[in-house]
Amino acid sequence: MRRSFVAGNWKMNKSPKETREFLKSFHPSTQKEVVIFVPALVLSAALDVVAAGSAATGLGKSAQVKIGIQNFHFEKKGAFTGETSPEVAHSMGATWALVGHSERRSLFHETDEDTKKKVALGLECGLSIMLCVGETLSERESGRTNEVVERQLAAALGASMDWSRIAIAYEPVWAIGTGKVATPEQASETHTHIRLWLKQNFGDAVSENTSILYGGSAKPENFLEIAAKPNIDGFLIGGASLDVASLAKFCN
Ligand code: PGA
Repeated sequence: MRRSFVAGNWKMNKSPKETREFLKSFHPSTQKEVVIFVPALVLSAALDVVAAGSAATGLGKSAQVKIGIQNFHFEKKGAFTGETSPEVAHSMGATWALVGHSERRSLFHETDEDTKKKVALGLECGLSIMLCVGETLSERESGRTNEVVERQLAAALGASMDWSRIAIAYEPVWAIGTGKVATPEQASETHTHIRLWLKQNFGDAVSENTSILYGGSAKPENFLEIAAKPNIDGFLIGGASLDVASLAKFCN
């Protein structure tokens, strides 16, 4: 069965102290899977609070918050100054990782080939992967949205992967951090296209069971209308995930 998600992407925000404060006061009561992608420097702080929290409250009372990383290198270890090892992140307790976020693709020149290597290695290291895809404004305006998204999916995904550990986030680049949210129809249209593409390429089970999240200026005031449309299985939330009360609203 398809899981429903609330995922936060903190980007390069929050110190260890702020991370601890946030997670100590964030106790969502929801059936949805809650994942927060934290900066690598606060991974330890986040994991400590989550581990202590689940020991204190026991599972079931509130959703267990899972912690993910926002990026990692496509090798496990070695001479890669400044990079993050997916193997080490997983051994510390991170369970999820983002791959192919548009800021990685545009600001840090991450290619489709890089996303392919990262998805494969992240899965090998035991992480679940949230693969981000999405078109720029000029690609949308020239009618190339589906073509771009298909290219990004085809580059990174393969039939023999452990699909129980893969989710897809559709994030139109023009909607990220801009306050310009896709209309519910635009979001649902692309999500439906992605699901059809999954069916054509990897079969019915993968298509039906893979969660597709929307991201791009998702806010407490606009997400319900998008969530009501077909094929929207949750949200990847940037700015609105930085505040406890704001993120909690997505969990109701
Ligand atoms: P935003 O970011 O919600 O601030 O637009 C979303 C994302 O980049 O994942």
